[in-house]
Amino acid sequence: MLFDTHAHLNFEAFENDWRETAKRALLAGIKIINVGSNLETSKKAVAIAEEFSEGVYAAVGLHPSEVQEEQLDIKEYKKLAAHPKVVALGEIGLDYYRLPDTIRPEGAGGVADGKQIKTPTEIKNLQKEVLLKFLKLSEETKLPVIVHCRDAHADLIDLLEKFDKPKGFDARGVMHCFSGSFEEARRYLNLGFLISFTGIITFAHFEGETLAKTPLNKIMVETDCPYLTPEPHRGKRNEPLFVEFVAKEVARIKNESYEEVARVTTENAKRLFQKIK
Ligand code: NI
Repeated sequence: MLFDTHAHLNFEAFENDWRETAKRALLAGIKIINVGSNLETSKKAVAIAEEFSEGVYAAVGLHPSEVQEEQLDIKEYKKLAAHPKVVALGEIGLDYYRLPDTIRPEGAGGVADGKQIKTPTEIKNLQKEVLLKFLKLSEETKLPVIVHCRDAHADLIDLLEKFDKPKGFDARGVMHCFSGSFEEARRYLNLGFLISFTGIITFAHFEGETLAKTPLNKIMVETDCPYLTPEPHRGKRNEPLFVEFVAKEVARIKNESYEEVARVTTENAKRLFQKIK
């Protein structure tokens, strides 16, 4: 058995065959969490989960790259979070790599095409504001968080460590599609996070040090499909079935058996996503 802890069958790429794609994975013993990136895809993730009696779950959240397009109404996400199939909040986080096209240099004119344009600093602040609202919701609902971070580890670690101070950050979560250094991983582990890896680890240029050093009982596997298709299917659309290639590569890099990696990563997922019975 395997657990694809981060999939997007709720995205357009699977519009016509999400049901068949999920069934293929379930038949192979693979469970799935479909992760939302805004209110619409979050609702779709819940709707897909409702179609299966077991093995398909949902996470609801607003992706940092979408904070300009959607005015966050946290109450809407709170409603979704109460659904029995919603096992986490995500994906949420900070992304300074994919800042929207509309950014203007600091201090430049503020309007384009009749729309108010934010500076990079304003966008980063908005991402942090949204993330904090979801961290508070995580405390309130006791749901773990699925965190996306790109080119923003220093700010994210700082924010999480400060959030930790007054209340104790026991909501726990996972750093999804992790590509940081082991030093960064270590700080997330100290904050109670698991570390999750995608098909990127099967690519030739992948530097395996962080994965090699992270203990197996802190690791989960995921596809992030339709993106990041692992070898040997690179170039095709990714799907939950292919999480097997990620787990095999974890086994190879960590010098463990595939069965052991499958068993422990699945246990880790069940420990983190406690709403799964
Ligand atoms: Ni994703």
